[in-house]
Amino acid sequence: MIEFSNICSKDCYYCGIRKSNHQAKRYNLSDEEILNAARFAYESNYGSVVLQGGELSGPAFTKRITNLVKGIKQLSGDKLGITLSVGEQTPEVYRQWFEAGAHRYLLRIESSDRDLYYRIHPQDDSHRFDQRLQALYDLKEAGYQLGTGVMIGLPFQTLEHLASDLLFMKALDIDMCGMGPYIEHADTPLWQYRGLLMPLEERFNLALKMIAVLRIMMKNINIASATALQAIDPIGREKALKIGANIIMPNITPGAYRNDYKLYENKPCTDEEAADCKNCLEARIHMSGNRIGYNEWGDSIHFKEKNQGC
Ligand code: 5AD
Ligand code: FES
Repeated sequence: MIEFSNICSKDCYYCGIRKSNHQAKRYNLSDEEILNAARFAYESNYGSVVLQGGELSGPAFTKRITNLVKGIKQLSGDKLGITLSVGEQTPEVYRQWFEAGAHRYLLRIESSDRDLYYRIHPQDDSHRFDQRLQALYDLKEAGYQLGTGVMIGLPFQTLEHLASDLLFMKALDIDMCGMGPYIEHADTPLWQYRGLLMPLEERFNLALKMIAVLRIMMKNINIASATALQAIDPIGREKALKIGANIIMPNITPGAYRNDYKLYENKPCTDEEAADCKNCLEARIHMSGNRIGYNEWGDSIHFKEKNQGC
């Protein structure tokens, strides 16, 4: 995971890098820094990278991502797989990035319940629930392996909402899922509702249960062990790997910037260098009884089988 910029044009009520948070120290990695991080991934035998950043749009941004995708393909002799996580864009932009070589896209629905969605997002043209849904359909149409997910333990969220979220993911026939506990951030509007939240430990356990149930519902999709799990429990991500998750995304953002990609409080591994992260992760994954799939794209089996007509 390369968190290449925390500059965001949106204003989600839960997110620490929202546009209106003037406390956030903004950064934007240079293309060279991003390509160097990707080179590090390649040389470390990681099979793929995720480019994640605050949501921006427009021709300059589109072109930048296109060039980065091509650059990463080039430096790795087409070996590195590329997942994008840069928010809602137009179908044309999705197509352009797909053609450049990206093949998976992460875009969380955050909540599949329209009312809850509008409690955690502003009601304006850049935060439309229907647009978010449409984006998911467009991504599928463009040919990507599609990943979505939700936050767990949001204020106003009920167990019924979460059950519906799981059914939503099943109905959408997603290929990948990333979901984790909601963690309140002091510089965001949702902070005022912190009194409504269940204790962190309960949110954590609920997130593990969501992962376990989704694994039973969708046996061959990729389920990521969300970093937010580790913000609550030091071995949270390993616990998720044991009960149903199969994907872990080590943070290889250059150390100097890591501390500023603060979507929520207590984000782990923000003061480590990428190489430290690698050794640490290796040990952790072995501890959880799993093996790392080096040099593999780690594509969703679900996607492959769907497309072979099985
Ligand atoms: N707590 C947990 N997850 C969060 N995200 C954003 N803010 C928070 C928060 N306060 C998640 C969103 C987004 C992803 C990149 O990070 O689900 O899609
Ligand atoms: Fe950046 Fe929500 S605040 S996408």
